[in-house]
This record gives sequence, C-alpha cells and structure tokens, in this order.
Amino acid sequence: MSKATTSALEFRVVARCSTTKARAANMVLPHGPVNTPVFMPVGTQASLKGVLPEQLEKLGCQIMLNNTYHLGLKPGQKVLDAVGGAHRFQTWTRNILTDSGGFQMVSLLKLATITEEGVKFLSPDDGSPMLLTPEHSMSLQNSIGSDIMMQLDDVVHTLTGPERMEEAMYRSIRWLDRCIKAHKKPETQNLFCIIQGGLDKRLREICCREMIKRDTPGIAVGGLSGGEEKTAFCEVVNTCSDLLPQNKPRYLMGVGYAEDLVVCVALGMDMFDCVYPTRTARFGNAITRYGNMNLRNHKYKFDEQPLEKDCQCPCCLPKEKNGWGISRAFFHSTVSKETAAAHLMTIHNVHYQLNLMREMRQAIIDDTFPAFVKRFFNDKYEGDK
Ligand code: GUN
Ligand code: ZN
Repeated sequence: MSKATTSALEFRVVARCSTTKARAANMVLPHGPVNTPVFMPVGTQASLKGVLPEQLEKLGCQIMLNNTYHLGLKPGQKVLDAVGGAHRFQTWTRNILTDSGGFQMVSLLKLATITEEGVKFLSPDDGSPMLLTPEHSMSLQNSIGSDIMMQLDDVVHTLTGPERMEEAMYRSIRWLDRCIKAHKKPETQNLFCIIQGGLDKRLREICCREMIKRDTPGIAVGGLSGGEEKTAFCEVVNTCSDLLPQNKPRYLMGVGYAEDLVVCVALGMDMFDCVYPTRTARFGNAITRYGNMNLRNHKYKFDEQPLEKDCQCPCCLPKEKNGWGISRAFFHSTVSKETAAAHLMTIHNVHYQLNLMREMRQAIIDDTFPAFVKRFFNDKYEGDK
C-alpha cells in the first residue's frame, strides 16, 4: 500500500446544516481559494467553449476542470512543459482540476480496452495503439500542473455485472497505489482518489475503507450518473458520505443537474462537475430558477424578457445596470445559427450553476438550508416562467 503523506491544500469546514449533512468549507489550493460547495465548469480543450478566462473569472469561478486525455493529445506534453503548464497555456490564473483520462477514453472511444497495465486505445489522430497507464496519467498531469489531479481509475458502467464491477473496484485501488508512487509534485499538486464499486453497498464500503487509508488530500466518488435510478444513486452517495472523513473535500464526479446538486449537497458532498450546463447551452437550452427553457421554441419569438427574471448574469442584466439586456426573442432567432448566441447562453448557464452553489453555501452558513431546498424545488417545478 502507498500513502500520500503530503498535501497542497487547506480545507476548513466553516458551517454545518443542523438537519442535513450539508456543509460549507473554505478550501485553499495553490491557485487561490475555493469556497464550497462548488461547481466546476468543464473546459475540455483548455478553456470553456466560447467563454474567455476573464469572463469566467468575472462570473466568480474559482476552479475549472480540464481533461488530461485531451490536453495530452493537444497541445501535448512537450508544449505543456515548454510553456510551463495549463494555467499559462490558457491564461487562467485560478485553480484547475484535471480528470485522469481513463473515463474520457472509455466513454468517448468505444475501442478502449482495459488491462492491469492501463487503458489501451487507438489514437484518434492516426489509429495507432496507445496505452494510458497510471504512471503516464500522473506524468501528464504533472506537466499540466493542475491544482487537483485525479487518479487513473477503472470506470465501468453502473449497470455492469458484479464480477467485473468488483474487479474494477480493486483495480482502482491498485492503480491509486501506482499513482501515489508516480506523483512527482505532491507539494504543489493534490492527488484525489476515486471511490468505485457501482451500486453495490458492500463494494463501496470496502473501497471507501481502503482508499481512506491511502490518505490522499481529497476524495472523489465516481462511477455514477450513468443512467441509474435516482434512489440507487442517492443511496451510494449517502453510504460513501457516511464513511468519508469530515476534514477532507468530497468530490462527486460528473454530477451537474441543479436538482442533483441540491440533493447531493444535502448528503454531504462538496465539489461537482458536469459538461451539461455548457453543452446544453449550445443546443439552445437555458437553465433557470423556474425550470429549463428551450429557446428554439416558437413561443419565444416575440418575448422581450431576459432568459431569467432578476438574473444577475451579464446577458440578463439590463443595459441600465451595465448588463447586455439580451432578450429571449434574440436567442430564439440566433441560437442555432450564431456561435455568439451559444456563447452568451453558456455564460448565463454557468452563472446559474455558480450562483446556485453560492446560494446554497450562504443558506448553510445562515442555517436556513432546509428552507432553501424547499424554495428551490418550489420555484423549479411550480414557478412561472
Ligand atoms: N467522471 C464522471 N465519473 C467519473 C469516474 O468515475 N471516474 C473518472 N475518472 N471521471 C469521471
Ligand atoms: Zn442570466
């Protein structure tokens, strides 16, 4: 067993909800503070599609997510080493979390196969065989210089059979040991482990116990959001949350629907990421307090209102308040034709997600979180757009 003895983060819980497991914490990473609960927008190919780092910073984003797999292919390790990492490469001065690459390959490339050595796949450039090992993923993430690096894990679909599920869970523990050994910069980069085990409570418990022993600076729960039943999903999150140490950040991977964020914060999770808010914006879907809207719908053709009443994002804020005052009618006629419209909608959706987390944090601090949850669901399902 390997142990991660060094960490490059501070994590201080500043408030707890008295009736749920929700907590608010102040985390400090090498590139600045992160207030939790936090949502991390995903910039796959360095930078969010269409959103400038400066705009993201103005929205109050303290940490974004990048993918090792994508950055490793383009610009590639040599360029990353030459420019001094992904922060400089994309002129982003705040924190970066990188996913390790295995999950992306398995979900993107149907031809990926997993052996004890690592994940084998065919290069999307020239079809040549490539192998991503725990050591290679760590080396790439060290070159990227991410503030939080994720271990390479063996990810299988939640509905995979029990034998393969157990194999993936134990292999993820062995790969964590290899990642800990291969990590060259524990003083400046934090390695997080990833709990696997599908929907099986026993496997999740074994995995939690084993990974907690390795003492990484933070802990992620993976292998969810693959179309499983909501109750099964919540039970896994709840099981893990009861076993995880209180003094470390807990990251629920790939979760980003607003209602899941609210429920999982109540279950004691601190960090989240998802491509959903940015991806869905490009399809013309706005996420709002009063439910989601597809702006391509004809009912918005003459609608002069902003996407969301009282939204403080620059798209919705009126001109008099130094915003851009963009109407639903504008989005209706442009969103599938103009990239600028998709970028603007992305800004609104990212603002929505970040603001939702800030509101939850404030409610936890004020000890009004249960009332917040009630109002959230009421607005979302009963609210009048
Ligand atoms: N993103 C969403 N789920 C997962 C997971 O289980 N593992 C990794 N590495 N990334 C994820
Ligand atoms: Zn808005």
